[in-house]
Amino acid sequence: MKTIRFGIIGPGLMAREFASAAARWCHLVDPPARPEIVGICHRSPINLDWFKTHFPGVKQYTSDYRELLANSEIDAVYVAVPHHLHEEIYGATLRAGKHLMGEKPFGIDLPANTAILRSIDENPGSFVRCSSQFPFYPAMQRMGEMIGNRAFGRILEANTGFLHSSDLDTAKPINWKRKVEFNGEYGVLGDLGMHACHIPFRAGWQPLNVRAILSNIVTERPDGKGGMAPCQTWDNATLLCEALDPADGLHFPWVLKTQRIAPGQKDTWYTEIIGTKACARWSSASPNVLQVLEYTGGEQSYRTVETGYTPAYKTITGPIFEFGFTDAILQMWAAFINELVTGKSPAKFAGCATPAETRHSHRLFTAALQSAKTHTTVHLS
Ligand SMILES: NC(=O)c1ccc[n+]([C@@H]2O[C@H](COP(=O)([O-])OP(=O)(O)OC[C@H]3O[C@@H](n4cnc5c(N)ncnc54)[C@H](O)[C@@H]3O)[C@@H](O)[C@H]2O)c1
Repeated sequence: MKTIRFGIIGPGLMAREFASAAARWCHLVDPPARPEIVGICHRSPINLDWFKTHFPGVKQYTSDYRELLANSEIDAVYVAVPHHLHEEIYGATLRAGKHLMGEKPFGIDLPANTAILRSIDENPGSFVRCSSQFPFYPAMQRMGEMIGNRAFGRILEANTGFLHSSDLDTAKPINWKRKVEFNGEYGVLGDLGMHACHIPFRAGWQPLNVRAILSNIVTERPDGKGGMAPCQTWDNATLLCEALDPADGLHFPWVLKTQRIAPGQKDTWYTEIIGTKACARWSSASPNVLQVLEYTGGEQSYRTVETGYTPAYKTITGPIFEFGFTDAILQMWAAFINELVTGKSPAKFAGCATPAETRHSHRLFTAALQSAKTHTTVHLS
């Protein structure tokens, strides 16, 4: 089987998820290639024992990403670093002729995203995608099929979001994700927003305007050194968009929520679509359960579909079993490698987020910032 030799820049939380998925590549049935991690770039010698213990095949450890990018034995790079470094390191990766899996938000702001997309245009030999794993849950693949088949009829409303409560604890020390200079002015939108946009953008829905309400709820946090530090990022965001469905040229409300302080929610990603012919809703809080209402006249009732283990990229796991977060990560990486090697995806919703989709998200989040600042509805040009 063909091998894609990977470098990792930023061996933190998400890089370990990738490494773990690569280590169980045997789970996939007949993938066209497999990833092999051969180089790691870290800023400080943190968490490297885990990589050294479990990935003896890694030949290069460096604290300078330029050295990793100069390694001719590396074909593709997963860059999972804080947002202020996206523009610089994604651009350097592309100029080095490597394929790139970047992390969201794919640039700390719109100008950074524009610069990254320019580098992509200038380096057409590199295959580039943005990480976004939630659409790979089987229920979401089914919802994607319903969108593709126009099963919803006229879309009346869409609700998408990502809610968690990890910041409800005010004693939690500040980290880079709560600092504007590293996470960006978007705050929670930069951190969680792409997750709530991927399905609508893949569906082709276009937000025409947005009214956003952004909240900074916890304004200071322990600095980890005995004092307090200002915490200026937006904790919660609610966006009401008027969206266009190009399939019928009609408009509908799309409500997008990303919240770090959502009491009662652990890590909930959800999508609900309400249409004239059908409705469907799914939440990662009950990952196996897709609820569908098909309106054929008479009584309206939701039925529950237990989706089981029926992902887009076939695995050795039987369809009666349950699917979870790490399975979605494996599927996302299967999608990246499949598209890199074969040039296509098996289904419209079975592909990683594209650079163009990150561009749409930046336009929306930038308009949302302006809306929150001016307390007005902002039109997306
Ligand atoms: N897809 C998802 O569900 C998901 C979840 C969490 C984070 N993310 C994204 O992943 C990216 C990284 O987030 P994380 O949670 O893994 O962060 P993290 O803090 O756990 O890891 C970041 C790593 O980057 C390293 N780093 C910083 N500067 C570096 C440099 N100059 N060179 C090399 N390494 C450097 C840090 O030492 C750290 O190991 C962000 O873009 C974030 O938005 C995605």
